[in-house]
Amino acid sequence: MKNIFEAPFVQEMMRTTANMYRLGWDERNGGNISYMLDEKEVGEYLDLTKVIRTIPLGFQAQSLVGKIFIVTGTGKYFKNVEYDPETNLGIIRIAKDATTAELLWGYKDGGKFTSELPAHLMTHMTRLRKDPDHRVVMHCHPTNTLAMNQVIELDDRTFTRALWKTCTECIVVFPDGIGVLPWMVCGTNEIGEATAEKMEDYRLVIWGMHGIYGSGKDMDETFGLIETVEKAAQLYLLAAGLPRVNTIRDEELVAVAERFEVDYRKDFINA
Ligand code: 13P
Ligand code: ZN
Repeated sequence: MKNIFEAPFVQEMMRTTANMYRLGWDERNGGNISYMLDEKEVGEYLDLTKVIRTIPLGFQAQSLVGKIFIVTGTGKYFKNVEYDPETNLGIIRIAKDATTAELLWGYKDGGKFTSELPAHLMTHMTRLRKDPDHRVVMHCHPTNTLAMNQVIELDDRTFTRALWKTCTECIVVFPDGIGVLPWMVCGTNEIGEATAEKMEDYRLVIWGMHGIYGSGKDMDETFGLIETVEKAAQLYLLAAGLPRVNTIRDEELVAVAERFEVDYRKDFINA
């Protein structure tokens, strides 16, 4: 067996959580990541017949039966993952009953997966239907994006347009826009279902006054989506309240989207 601590997917989780922490997106235990792994690759590092313990999911994840994920632990601090991945991360497989997780590695102190697992797994189910290459779901509390929540209407079109108009490349990075949910109680199946429903149309979802969800085919794409939103939100706030002299006009949004041949939300452009 190869050394699990050297596995690219463990290393990637260590690097990503450290980056997110240093960017100020994940104070204390804020934020969580789940990453769907290739069974054959995991089998090079772990005996897949050995289940350490089982943990109830609290919902049905039928289309994910047999799938393996590496997931951050609940209550764990992103700043600590790189120093003790086996306590702060876990590798789980969705059991045949679709309502139980089989722990294959990690959560060494008896812990369990993030309290936001419903939103993660429900999002994986939705995004995998849209794109078989989908792999990663990431949640965090980026500072500027959250501040922007306080000064702008919480709806998909308004929020997307504000970001697109802040920074020329936004429409190229997230032409599908950003979905926005109202404030809701977190850690529930209800917010999970609402998130997954938004993920039918978007790869980015704002949880009103809480944070952001990103989904993508790898860690870079997902991180890059959130990073671009957060940069645009920072620019938006830096200019907010100042006399507005220049903005990106709607025809300019269309021109850049067409130049880069992205399938943008036409109904988010003013005629
Ligand atoms: P967990 O510690 O359970 O992952 O929760 C953090 C969080 O950001 C809740 O939304
Ligand atoms: Zn959160």
